[in-house]
Amino acid sequence: MKRKDFFKKGLGAAVATTFLPNPWLMGNTDNTSHLSDDISLDNHSDNFLGNSEISKNTEFPTYTELENPLSPDWNRVRSEFSINPKITFLNNGTMGITPAPVLKSLNDAFQHAASEAAYPHADGSLEKLIAEITGAKDTEIAITKNVSEGVNLACWAMDLKAGDEILITKHEHVGGCAPWLHRAQLDGVKLVVVELGSDATSTYANFVAAATTKTKVLAIPHIPCTIGQILPIKELCAWAKSRGIVSAIDGAHPLGMVQFNIKELGCDYYSGCLHKWVLGPLGTGWFYASEEILAKSAIKHVAAYSVDKFDMSTTPPSMGELVNKTGRYSFGTFSGPLYAGAKTALKFYQHLGPKSVETRVKYLSAVVYYHLLWLNQNSKKSLADSNSKTKSTSKKLPAIAPSLEDWLRYHFGNQPWIPSHIGLANGISTGNTKAAALATSVSNQTIQQWALKHQKSSVLEILTPFESQSRGAQIGFRIASDKKPSLSQKFCDYARSKGMILRYVGENNIDCVRVSTHYYNQLDEINLFISHLKDFFNQEQLG
Ligand SMILES: Cc1ncc(COP(=O)(O)O)c(C=O)c1O
Repeated sequence: MKRKDFFKKGLGAAVATTFLPNPWLMGNTDNTSHLSDDISLDNHSDNFLGNSEISKNTEFPTYTELENPLSPDWNRVRSEFSINPKITFLNNGTMGITPAPVLKSLNDAFQHAASEAAYPHADGSLEKLIAEITGAKDTEIAITKNVSEGVNLACWAMDLKAGDEILITKHEHVGGCAPWLHRAQLDGVKLVVVELGSDATSTYANFVAAATTKTKVLAIPHIPCTIGQILPIKELCAWAKSRGIVSAIDGAHPLGMVQFNIKELGCDYYSGCLHKWVLGPLGTGWFYASEEILAKSAIKHVAAYSVDKFDMSTTPPSMGELVNKTGRYSFGTFSGPLYAGAKTALKFYQHLGPKSVETRVKYLSAVVYYHLLWLNQNSKKSLADSNSKTKSTSKKLPAIAPSLEDWLRYHFGNQPWIPSHIGLANGISTGNTKAAALATSVSNQTIQQWALKHQKSSVLEILTPFESQSRGAQIGFRIASDKKPSLSQKFCDYARSKGMILRYVGENNIDCVRVSTHYYNQLDEINLFISHLKDFFNQEQLG
């Protein structure tokens, strides 16, 4: 494929801001050219570096974007991540691992700033890139250092008075709720904590039921950090709008994990992150305020980029207008090199293909889910065994788990890649030929029944909904325990002692283990996770 075709087909940004350390171009691509004719596509990159040529002659490897989670070649992609091989990192929900092109870009930009005394000037290119990927206008994006900053900006942009009600959840990160808690203390607004349902429909219904005439704000995460459940944000924002409720969404997780269009979501404010799923440098985030809400939004801090002019020589000293864009919420000098790294991360994401990334990360987390269900089914103390009432229905269900192949078909449809993939997955599949034979007759409905039945046993409860529209790349589960520290916490410590990093969610008594799988994770890492969990069960004499 010619590079121009590659661009025309929109398969990704081909001009990187860095060299890749190894030539991992896949067949079917023109890997000889570091072509200048495409440079215009990348004109916005690294403008803060002035006219530097340092990063113009490089490109990302190219991939064919397929529905197949095996393509791009994720093993090659993995080689761009220099994570210590002794570490198994299943905690991307806390921070993303920066790939080599991003590290290179950061390094080059810091070097350049130091050697050329290059001061960063805001050129709006990072905002443009975020707008392009999320469907926003670039004038609706401000660059922040993290999600907490965005949540604060939204919280203090609103005109609220004592007694006004804010709908929020128990599943907030401290950065998502502390601004609202603080506002409750200072201004007497009331936080109404709404339970998440076990699927999108019940979650939606819970919010609708909690609203009163005093409800003024919907302040919820798109994907909470606790159990990774994808909330029905589009439906909730439409409902909120119809009632004059302002929506302020904590979007720490979706960008880089699942595809979305912010205009389709229909929210007023959205606080995003670039150092989690986008795999950008730590300390980079973004904030969206729609054009309509911006006109009604307050701003408490102003600096360079917030106002169009100021004059301290007049009497009295004077200030011009607030700039008519969300960028007014970006204050003063920023780290140009971090912005350069963030742009590279976003281009790398575009290059791999948001759809391929989403398929891959959902696939990996579906495999985690599958194995937890399988573990539950095989737990001696499973509810099915201990509750004789369920025995009659169990006749209709397979005696053993559906095969991984059927499971994948259930989630991803009849994809051509599935059979070839099973071989690769064998390391973690049951290896039970009887199961595979039986599974061929298992219908989707039966798989669903099977999954719902084994979501909870007396030893392990999967908290992330089974419903696929509510599930992304993070699975939360709790190991039943009345001890302190809980067994979920103990398991995270146990895994850590083996070099595996998971996230223990202890906040708000949620008490669960969160497993986050990004595209760079591999099946053998999931295999290892399951093996650690089984060993832990044995050690604790569970199941
Ligand atoms: C859902 C959610 N909101 C907010 C935050 C806070 O992010 P930051 O520390 O980048 O501000 C996090 C961090 O993990 C999060 O997961």
